[in-house]
Amino acid sequence: MERYDRDGLLYFPNDPGGRLRLKRYLDESLGEKIQSLWDDIPPLSAHALERLGYPTQKPVSLLERILSASSNPGDVVLDPFCGCGTTISAAEKLGRQWIGIDSTHLSVGLIKARLKRDFDLLPKQDYQEHGTPSDLAAAQYFAEQDPFQFQFWIVGEIGAQAFGGMGDSRKGKKGGDTGIDGQLFFRTPDGVKIERAIVSVKAGRNLNPAMVRDLRGTVEREKAAIGVLLLAHEPTRGMLQEAASAGVYSWGGRVYPKLQLLTVAQLLAGQQPDLPRGVVNVSLEQKPAKALTGKRAKDKGASPLFAP
Ligand SMILES: C[S@@+](CC[C@H](N)C(=O)[O-])C[C@H]1O[C@@H](n2cnc3c(N)ncnc32)[C@H](O)[C@@H]1O
Repeated sequence: MERYDRDGLLYFPNDPGGRLRLKRYLDESLGEKIQSLWDDIPPLSAHALERLGYPTQKPVSLLERILSASSNPGDVVLDPFCGCGTTISAAEKLGRQWIGIDSTHLSVGLIKARLKRDFDLLPKQDYQEHGTPSDLAAAQYFAEQDPFQFQFWIVGEIGAQAFGGMGDSRKGKKGGDTGIDGQLFFRTPDGVKIERAIVSVKAGRNLNPAMVRDLRGTVEREKAAIGVLLLAHEPTRGMLQEAASAGVYSWGGRVYPKLQLLTVAQLLAGQQPDLPRGVVNVSLEQKPAKALTGKRAKDKGASPLFAP
């Protein structure tokens, strides 16, 4: 100890009761310095809680390392192909400013859901969003020109997760004929079970009550709690009657319409579906029944916003 002290190798903590520490210098240590091959960050596992179902998603710890090494707090980070927003999430966490660009609305919708879930950030209020329709004429034009991207956008506008993944979106067609375009999850009042609201989108002008009946059938088949039909144009009276006849869903002493119709005009005016509070974002690939709760979620390192 005296020799270490003479050589200036002892660290004396401020706390007189604290332990002395031995200073070790990197260039005198065994082992190799970190190189450009990083094999200590595993790829996202199939059950990772951060998984959003985006096929090329990277682990956020990888992006945190890259950003920590190459920028300082307050710097601006740009990811021009930002996918499901791993760079954006890492930048936000590390106190950087950020700009993300992606050509699909599936990606933008996922990033919005991720920012809400992990940081409670909302568009307009906490960050700006460009390239999405801001008035009715633009939204309806968008629906006409590109119904598929319109569907991703409007699903993201209500904080829902697009259903069917990315595979089909690249080919530009609707995934399967499941009648499900998006999903929202919320917990039962006791916090134990996760319930589901199914979202369906109609981008066209020709609307009829059969569309509401189809959604009702899907909600029943999927044993979901609520169905939400998002429309680019005004519904017919028959559609409103059909929706009203579906009855209500009871949650915590309150009732919610079982089938809800919401137009893009209402959405742009700030209206949202009437759903039980505490919407949780479950990974696209996680079935509601498998969602982790309580202690298990904590053990697996779930973010506090994810845990009940
Ligand atoms: C490899 S993914 C990025 C994944 C990202 N690292 C993550 O963790 O989510 C590439 C992204 O680039 C987007 N993309 C492709 N061409 C583009 C373009 N011309 N402009 C903007 N984004 C584009 C795709 O939609 C895709 O989301």
